[in-house]
Amino acid sequence: MPKRPRSSLWYDGIENLPHRVYLRAIGFSEEDFKKPLIAVAVAWSEAGPCNFHTLQLSLAVKEGVRDAGGKALTVPTIVVNDGINMGTPGMRYSLISRELIADTVEAQVNSHGFDAWVGIGGCDKTQPGIIMAMARLNMPSVYMYGGTAEAYEVNAERLTVETAFEAVGAYLRGLISLEEALDIERKAMPTYGTCQGLFTANTMAILAEALGVMPLGAATPPATSAERWRYAQYAGRLALQVLENDLKPRDIITYESLRNAATVLMAIGGSTNAILHLLAIAREAGVKFTLRDFEEASRKVPVIAALQPVGPYTMNDLHRLGGAPVILKKLLEAGLLDPSPITVEGESIGKLLSKWEARVDGRVVYPLDKPYKPYAGIRILYGNLAPEGAVMKIGASGVLKFKGRARVFDSEQDAFNAVKNGEIGENEVVVIRYMGPKGAPGMPEMLKVTAAIVGAGLGEKVALVTDGRFSGATRGIMVGHVAPEAEVGGPIALVRDGDEILIDGESGRLELLVDSEELERRRREWRPRRRELRGLLAKYASLVRQASEGAVTIA
Ligand code: FES
Repeated sequence: MPKRPRSSLWYDGIENLPHRVYLRAIGFSEEDFKKPLIAVAVAWSEAGPCNFHTLQLSLAVKEGVRDAGGKALTVPTIVVNDGINMGTPGMRYSLISRELIADTVEAQVNSHGFDAWVGIGGCDKTQPGIIMAMARLNMPSVYMYGGTAEAYEVNAERLTVETAFEAVGAYLRGLISLEEALDIERKAMPTYGTCQGLFTANTMAILAEALGVMPLGAATPPATSAERWRYAQYAGRLALQVLENDLKPRDIITYESLRNAATVLMAIGGSTNAILHLLAIAREAGVKFTLRDFEEASRKVPVIAALQPVGPYTMNDLHRLGGAPVILKKLLEAGLLDPSPITVEGESIGKLLSKWEARVDGRVVYPLDKPYKPYAGIRILYGNLAPEGAVMKIGASGVLKFKGRARVFDSEQDAFNAVKNGEIGENEVVVIRYMGPKGAPGMPEMLKVTAAIVGAGLGEKVALVTDGRFSGATRGIMVGHVAPEAEVGGPIALVRDGDEILIDGESGRLELLVDSEELERRRREWRPRRRELRGLLAKYASLVRQASEGAVTIA
């Protein structure tokens, strides 16, 4: 008999006759009531390309469930598209949506008597939201990614959304014409799917493989590919397998698998957002995993993938080379990955990887002894400006140390205007504060400003420090996630124009070079801002924890 640990409680016996009526009303047969009931929790929305097709993809998951003897029902959750909301008031809802997704998936899957479930994500926050729900519910479950959009690749021209964001700064500085900028707009994203580079969505998809919550190899097939459809069918079949074997997310998400994911994050030069998300997933799984663990990982691996924004290539290029397992296997062979964690496929990551061919080409993926960059893509900084930690993105610039004078902004738009108007000069540190989890609230990404800085040709001459976040598409000298944030009186609230700031990725320091007496005087003068928040923003601001704790809303 197939396992029905929960659906039997909802739908079996004379006392549950009324419950069965509701499912009869949607076409359930006698046979259907004997099958395990599987939820397909799908983050779907037409308001952007990243999750435009995920409802369609859920049909493939349902096929897999049906083939394996289960009965599947689709339940929805929300999507806030990061790229579309960048630089707008909507961006405050991006990180908040991660919590909403985890909460709504919990509510959907934990009611209605589902025995197991498959979650489908796409855009940035949909993925950690679903994986957090997996860890929280600890029910047999499988994660599946919706896949990436194609890049525009014709002759030597290669355009992606990153080209589009940077086109704004380039146009404003007169480096390209209006017609050229509009041409990029029309071409940069020729299909639906997520952003093409190794931004947050693709970073999280690769980390889902490394964590073991998604089948190996499922991160890179394009959104439009038949392979993507086949992986979704496989995820449906796997749901029945994890149910049968009683394999649960907390068997998979352990300290060891999180450490593997942190190592992979460093080796791919992935998005800094992944730090917040892995911290949040660890918290949901009840695993103690901190910024120190990321710091340790960042000291032992170089970047071996030349993917945007660090390098020129896209997720599709990585797919053509063999996918994320190529990178994972190289790390495993070098003893940098723990082979023992069990994965959703029922085998250890080491055993699964032994079946993959790992061929590096020295173009998209490099060997570890001749890496693409000699350092990891991320450093964790501490100091008097970030006593609880901050995250430095090293990226393509390779600049590990920077000292400059502060230019302080309490709004992203003001900072953007200053860059746009040419008011920011070399050797300045743009500080954008009150952008933290409580402050903004919702810790928006500063891509508009960072892209404008890079577009203005200042990428290696100006640094940015913020208690907000960066997009995975960000380039330049960037320090974000500064904790504690300005809203709660963190030292970033005390910075003034002209103060000297030291960013040192080598020694892991972020210092405000102002003497302690002066800082104490400023602290006494500092007063919390008065503001009126309503609705979700108010609820979120009252619950959310600091970035160093993953900006979660759970205790
Ligand atoms: Fe959704 Fe980039 S905007 S992945």
